[in-house]
Amino acid sequence: MFQDSDYQTQIDAEISDNVQNLEIDPYRLDYHLMPPVGLLNDPNGLIKLNGTYHVFFQWNPFETTHGKKAWGHYTSSDLINWTLEPAALVPDAWYDKNGCYSGSAIEHDGKMYLFYTGNVKDDEDRRSTYQCMAVSNDGIHFEKKGPVLHLPDGYTPHFRDPKVWKTDGQWLMILGAQNEQGHGEAVIAASENLVDWDFIGPIAGSNINNLGDFGYMWECPDLFELDGRDILIVCPQGLEADGDKYHNLFQAGYFTGAFDSSMYTYSHEDFTELDRGFDFYAPQTFIDEAGRRILLAWMGITDDDEQDQPTIGRDWIHGLTIPRVLEMKGDRVIQTPAPELQKLRYERVSHAVMLNPETSFHAGIEPLSEISVEFKNDIMDGFELVLRNDVKVIYDGQRFIIERRKFSGEGREQRAFQLEQLANLRIFLDRSSVEIFINGGEEVCSSRFFPEVDERNIELKAHGAVQCEMNVWNLKENTIDMYG
Ligand code: FRU
Repeated sequence: MFQDSDYQTQIDAEISDNVQNLEIDPYRLDYHLMPPVGLLNDPNGLIKLNGTYHVFFQWNPFETTHGKKAWGHYTSSDLINWTLEPAALVPDAWYDKNGCYSGSAIEHDGKMYLFYTGNVKDDEDRRSTYQCMAVSNDGIHFEKKGPVLHLPDGYTPHFRDPKVWKTDGQWLMILGAQNEQGHGEAVIAASENLVDWDFIGPIAGSNINNLGDFGYMWECPDLFELDGRDILIVCPQGLEADGDKYHNLFQAGYFTGAFDSSMYTYSHEDFTELDRGFDFYAPQTFIDEAGRRILLAWMGITDDDEQDQPTIGRDWIHGLTIPRVLEMKGDRVIQTPAPELQKLRYERVSHAVMLNPETSFHAGIEPLSEISVEFKNDIMDGFELVLRNDVKVIYDGQRFIIERRKFSGEGREQRAFQLEQLANLRIFLDRSSVEIFINGGEEVCSSRFFPEVDERNIELKAHGAVQCEMNVWNLKENTIDMYG
């Protein structure tokens, strides 16, 4: 069964109805992928094939709430200029009628294969899930092949998000699951031919590998080798806040470890959050032909106040992060913006900044800009950087804090973590988002924010003497064609 053309016609109508809304929206994202209309969540099916990058995404084109998801689709030859393609998967089959949920893409014999979760609800709202496959010759039009893996015994229907890869001559699929005891797990299935899959079992999870209680559901797992280590990225749901950790509703992070693909065992260290901001979830990675491991994530989280975001008034919500390259540094995964993003820069202003308690620094910035700050001396006391009179970055010599105005109601909110030394910052600003790469990507904070439209200020201040070199680049607009 090929894509339903009526469904695509309805999507096209929604998109063209929203064109004017987007043109006047001061919070529209520019070099970040966002939906032309409706709600976007997880990045799906990331792959580079025949010179083209494909980013699919969870998409409800008809509402700004989480409903029946389709797979939206953007393509690019350079990670900068993107084009919206027809929806790749729409929820029109018995096995995915309530949503084509998250999954992944692989190449085999020159074809692109998508693996995704068919979500089905019955009249009493009971859920069933099927792991499904779709195939394409051109990377644009997909033929659904239906379920390839059914729910194994011992699991609830919270069983989804297949990520498929090849290792030692066999295909493996890792999925997020909840077992019947109510524990989150990452589970594995194996196949010789991509069509017949054998369920194997969990490789990690809550109460597995001495982890203790670690959530009631694990979503969006991704297992890959990075500089000789096997990294398992996963999104556990149900962790309680612990000191500075786990303050978002759900978490996204990784384990560093060793995966044995013949015994299907994984030994690992502790869980580390991938991002310390407010809005980062469901990351997925892929490897390109140069061997780079690239990550994109949903710059959002299913949260109570997501519906308070002002873009809802313009019939869209959420976006994806910029593409980030992953590398290991010791036991840590570091993230740096894909170097291609430098092509967005078109104008630079450099500032030699000398701060002391009496002298702060102000400059104008455009809503689309990249800012780098190199510190020339150790910061022992308070340092603050304020973006567009909304997002604040605070460092006191020990703790790093990101603060923003709340989306709903009055007041401000913070996320924080320990940081021994602050050497540099690289900040990517879009009209309503900020991504801060700290110390060459050792830590990252990603957040949406909705500043007063006319606020164009950056302010730096300090309690002691701080010297830094700051570069501000204006970034090109309109690199994403959302109308195909
Ligand atoms: C993560 C998630 C996935 C699921 C998808 C549905 O945000 O809940 O587990 O496949 O979103 O849109």
